[in-house]
Amino acid sequence: GPNPTPKEPLLGFNRIDPVLDETFDWMAVPEGYNAQVFFSWGDPVVAGAPSMLESTQHTAADQEKQAGQNHDGMHYFPIDGSSEHGLLVMNHEYINQWSLHPAGDTLVNGVRPQEEVLKELAAHGVSVLEVKKNGKDWSIVSDSKYGRRIHGQTKMMITGPAAGTDALKTVADPEGRTVYGTYNNCAMGYTPWGTYLACEENFQGYFGNKDETDFESRREHKRYGIGTKNRYDWDTVMERFDATPKANLDHQGYVNEPNRFGWVVEIDPFDPKSDPVKRTAMGRLVRECATPSVMDDGKMAFYMGDDSRGEYIYKFVPKGTYDPKKSSKENGALLDEGTLYVAVFYEDGTGEWAALEHGKNGLTALNGFRDQADIVINARSAADHVGATPMDRPEWVAIHPESKDVYVTLTNNSRRGNGDARQTVNAANPREANLHGHIVKIAEANNRADAVSFEWDIFLMAGDPSAENETLKGDIKGDIFSSPDGLYFDQDGRLWIQTDYSDSSDNNVNFGLNQMLASDPETKEVRRFFVGPKGCEVTGITKTPDGTSMFINVQHPKLHFPDRSGKNPPRSSTILIQKDDGGIVGA
Ligand code: FEO
Ligand code: CA
Ligand code: CA
Ligand code: CA
Repeated sequence: GPNPTPKEPLLGFNRIDPVLDETFDWMAVPEGYNAQVFFSWGDPVVAGAPSMLESTQHTAADQEKQAGQNHDGMHYFPIDGSSEHGLLVMNHEYINQWSLHPAGDTLVNGVRPQEEVLKELAAHGVSVLEVKKNGKDWSIVSDSKYGRRIHGQTKMMITGPAAGTDALKTVADPEGRTVYGTYNNCAMGYTPWGTYLACEENFQGYFGNKDETDFESRREHKRYGIGTKNRYDWDTVMERFDATPKANLDHQGYVNEPNRFGWVVEIDPFDPKSDPVKRTAMGRLVRECATPSVMDDGKMAFYMGDDSRGEYIYKFVPKGTYDPKKSSKENGALLDEGTLYVAVFYEDGTGEWAALEHGKNGLTALNGFRDQADIVINARSAADHVGATPMDRPEWVAIHPESKDVYVTLTNNSRRGNGDARQTVNAANPREANLHGHIVKIAEANNRADAVSFEWDIFLMAGDPSAENETLKGDIKGDIFSSPDGLYFDQDGRLWIQTDYSDSSDNNVNFGLNQMLASDPETKEVRRFFVGPKGCEVTGITKTPDGTSMFINVQHPKLHFPDRSGKNPPRSSTILIQKDDGGIVGA
């Protein structure tokens, strides 16, 4: 255009140093910024709920109305476009039994006490909060009609190609369309029609199939890492967690219960009475995220990482287009019909999206894929069959707001190149024993979310460029880190990178404690912006539309964060970050 005004540099803040102090129990931000604890485990969510810290007893019934543990992916939904009033929705990924039960978790004569199990179920799931800004101060509306906890026993519907098929039926649900609970909601997505997409990540540990012969033959268990034991022994009080086939029961009891997890769960935060919906067309994965890319013409894609070693990157392209005039329920049906693709990376920097569609790419009955329901339930096996590229643990995906380029964190993969035939070194995962991870950039053909081919390159290899050991060396321009996990583009196209590594490992000493950095996607400069307390990972990130308020999560802190008095156990917390002068965070 004529006389473009010179652009301000994208990163406008002063970098901060890594924090190497193992006793650091707070947060560091650049000069001119402030970070405050906004919402922690045990805080009230549902109107009238007690606060965990104020009640002498923190019961399962209380926990069902309070913030769960281990805050993770999160999204701010503006009300009428406002940057001062909206709904903040977040995942509570997993639990810490030692802090949930003051006296520790117990097994009495081989059975878990019911109250403990109910509390554990209640501490999982999703919180919906109404939040409001008054002057510079944000608060949670305590009597909001939107305040809601979705947890390990919340009723949910199942839709899409797998709904109602035999593989989703149990003795308790002969229709195969109703399920209770969601677990290990890690990262997330959202839709242009204002719904939240909670993603079910490591669900496999909650179920056990004790019949080892049956287990070996059942790919929908074995390929997902479901074992013969239950992580928390919930099966000792709730039969549905026992996935051992029972010949005397309809649908063999609960052998299919694990098939009802691993999905995208659509939640309408603006309709507190609505049932969450598990959208099976989007495939069953150990899914990190479902990041939207929406085009001006209403076509869209949801990008998804399957976070296990050597698993794949997927996208789901709805057949229809988003129509702002339709209700969220009508638009929601877009998630029931479309094409699930998996990424194939070629050595020459090109790649393609292989459709996991019945009858295509060899996904036929002859090759063991009965129909589309069978494919979505066994999406990993279908992806194996079409030659998808095994990646170094795909975590978050972020979409550049203008170019629609797709950035994916590959957090790390110590087993890359260790002799496992599925995990040999390849161009997109070039580092043997990849302890520090990397970020891959995918440029879709014609910048279209519904493209079937792409070009790719490595945005950066994490690690310290000055490391002597070649396999630990990175190529970061600027501040160093390991194990990128959370990833987010803000409204101006700043790329925010959040880390999740062991801050007690010798390999990570130079990086200090876990952190958040910002990067300019053009120059690739990386600048450290935030460091969290000892023991935490930094995860979950969202901003108000004007970019002046940022919310992030500090997950699994140690020491006593955020209660420095030492009276309370450490609690995962949402952190509000603002610039002292009210400006755009990062600018
Ligand atoms: Fe829950 Fe993939 O981190
Ligand atoms: Ca993660
Ligand atoms: Ca984690
Ligand atoms: Ca992680």
